Amino acid sequence: MNSMNCDLSAVLLDEYRIQTRVREIGMQIASEYKDKVPVIIGILKGGAIFMADLVRSITIPVELDFLAISSYGNATSSSGVVKIRKDIDADISGRDVIIVEDIVDSGLSLQYIRDYLLKHSPASLKTCVLLDKPNAHKMEVSFDYVGFEIGNEFVVGYGLDYDERYRNLPYIGILKEELYS
Ligand code: IMP
Ligand code: MG
Repeated sequence: MNSMNCDLSAVLLDEYRIQTRVREIGMQIASEYKDKVPVIIGILKGGAIFMADLVRSITIPVELDFLAISSYGNATSSSGVVKIRKDIDADISGRDVIIVEDIVDSGLSLQYIRDYLLKHSPASLKTCVLLDKPNAHKMEVSFDYVGFEIGNEFVVGYGLDYDERYRNLPYIGILKEELYS
C-alpha cells in the first residue's frame, strides 16, 4: 500500500482505468494526425505524467515540448493569475500543435495557454486534457480530447499535486478535506 494513500478519502481513478483511457486517446491522436508530425506541448508540472504515458501510446512521429505556467500556488482554489515560468523552445509557426494539460477547473489556465500559443501562428491547435470539472468552468471552454469528467472535489495523483506533493501517485484520488481546510 502506498503511504500517501491514507491522505485520500477515496481512489477516484485507478491505474488500470487511467492507462486504458490514455491508450485510447493516444490511438485516436495517431489516427487523426496520420502523415503529420504534431508538436505536443505538455503543461508543467501537472501534465508531465499524463504526457509521458500519452506519447508512448502515439504510434506516429511527434515532437515534444513543454510550457510551464503558474496557477495555484499552494492553495486549492484558482488565484486567477496565470504567468509563464518556462517558454516553449520549438518554433510552432505553421505546425500542428496539441496542448496536453492535467485538469481544467475554471478554464482560465487553458484559455490563457491557447491565446498565448495562437500568437505563434500554428497551422492548427488542439487541446487534450486528462480531467475536466465541467461544473467548475467560469467561462466557455472546449477541448478536443478529454480523459474523464469529474465532480468538483480536489484530486491528487498522476501529476496532480497539493502543495507540490502526491504527483507521483500512480492513480488519482480525492484528497481528505481536513488536509487543506
Ligand atoms: P483552472 O485555470 O482553474 O482551469 O485550473 C487549472 C489548474 O489548476 C490545473 O492545471 C491544476 O494545476 C490546478 N487544479 C485544478 N483543480 C485541481 C485539483 O483538483 N487538483 C490539483 N490541481 C488542480
Ligand atoms: Mg497545473
